[in-house]
Amino acid sequence: METQVAIVGAGPAGLVLARLLERQGIDSVVLEVRSREYVEGRVRAGVLEQRTVDLLTEAGVADRLQREGMVHAGLELRFGGRGHRIDLSELTGGRTITVYGQQEVVKDLIAARLSAGGALRFAVSDVELAEVESERPAVRFRHDGEAHELRCDAIAGCDGFHGICRAAIPPGALTVYEREYPFAWLGILARARPSSEELIYANHPRGFALHSMRTPEVTRLYLQCEPGEDLGAWPDERIWAELQARFELTEGFRLNEGEILDRGVTPMRSFVVEPMQHGRLFLAGDAAHIVPPTGAKGLNLAVADVEVLADALSAFYRDGDERRLAGYSERCLRRVWRVQHFSSWMTAMLHRPPGQDPFEAQLQHSQLEYVCRSRAAATTLAENYVGLAEV
Ligand code: FAD
Ligand code: DHB
Repeated sequence: METQVAIVGAGPAGLVLARLLERQGIDSVVLEVRSREYVEGRVRAGVLEQRTVDLLTEAGVADRLQREGMVHAGLELRFGGRGHRIDLSELTGGRTITVYGQQEVVKDLIAARLSAGGALRFAVSDVELAEVESERPAVRFRHDGEAHELRCDAIAGCDGFHGICRAAIPPGALTVYEREYPFAWLGILARARPSSEELIYANHPRGFALHSMRTPEVTRLYLQCEPGEDLGAWPDERIWAELQARFELTEGFRLNEGEILDRGVTPMRSFVVEPMQHGRLFLAGDAAHIVPPTGAKGLNLAVADVEVLADALSAFYRDGDERRLAGYSERCLRRVWRVQHFSSWMTAMLHRPPGQDPFEAQLQHSQLEYVCRSRAAATTLAENYVGLAEV
């Protein structure tokens, strides 16, 4: 088998890349270890930056997103028993975010890929990379009981944090930056009307909580918990009681409850590998970096990477110009580190680390008040949250 670009992984990074290449007339094959049902059912992120929405729109895969996505012009920071609205739009010259589930983005991209007749194989196994330092690398895999070898010009490693692509780079060629956090998020999806029109990020003495949504009938909620928390210790009543306590019944607020449709624990980690490329292998999205979810950036950063990669590949095929491919990692890493900083800053401002000392708690409170009172500080949050056009 042959193609121009072999794409390993059908998450947002791999599927958006396949779409962008398709629009440039560049052939690709997408390989995914999981089934279509699994990938389409996996509940994850939900906040799209304006630039992500614009890119999906230009790529012709945003019809349903335009109809069903919920456009938000602000968000709320809640602490000390009160809510404070950050007017994202007013602070950023009219920019907004759109709430639309990652799994819906993935469904739309898969449907577009298949209807365009693009190659996309689910449930492959034993994926291995070969000769990544040569000009004709290969991906070996099994599908429907048969062994295959896919020769290509370039491999896009879009296989997420636990994928195999990053490990195909000799360890001596990589620098790893990593930070683990002493907490995780317990996330639920509930059949309940959102309790507020906008997202609420709450810092409470019991820990962080986040109110988000998916549709006018479905709420997405998260609460800070222990790393590796046992879901068995969290019956529905405990989840709701904890969420109610952290959002507080102030200012007439009451959290709407309903049937819990999905639940899971997300570990919190900051991680970057440099460089994001080796020979003809290019890592994109979670395969190269992880951010803690507090800034709502993981999915948006994955899309930003493949936008750069698609641009570099198109220069390569159009004029044989390898310079942009050579500069791929450097170009991506500027945004990656900006987003790492923002995500870690939001995480530190909003969570209660175990054993937090009283001095730290006061600093955190002062930081939150400053963000809510100072236009300059609020603008810093807003422009990073809606997504910087340039970094
Ligand atoms: P992924 O979405 O991980 O896609 C990688 C794909 O590669 C997967 O489909 C995987 O099955 C496939 N794959 C793996 N190994 C192989 C292989 N060997 N061969 C072929 N395919 C392979 N971000 C937020 O902003 N907010 C959140 O609330 C949030 N929640 C999250 C919850 C969880 C449990 C996780 C894991 C992530 C969450 N994120 C969140 C992060 C966000 O979802 C990711 O940043 C985003 O999915 C990155 O997209 P990606 O395409 O790079 O990777
Ligand atoms: C959602 C997830 C996030 O990580 C975040 O910061 C905001 C919203 C969500 O799933 O809706």
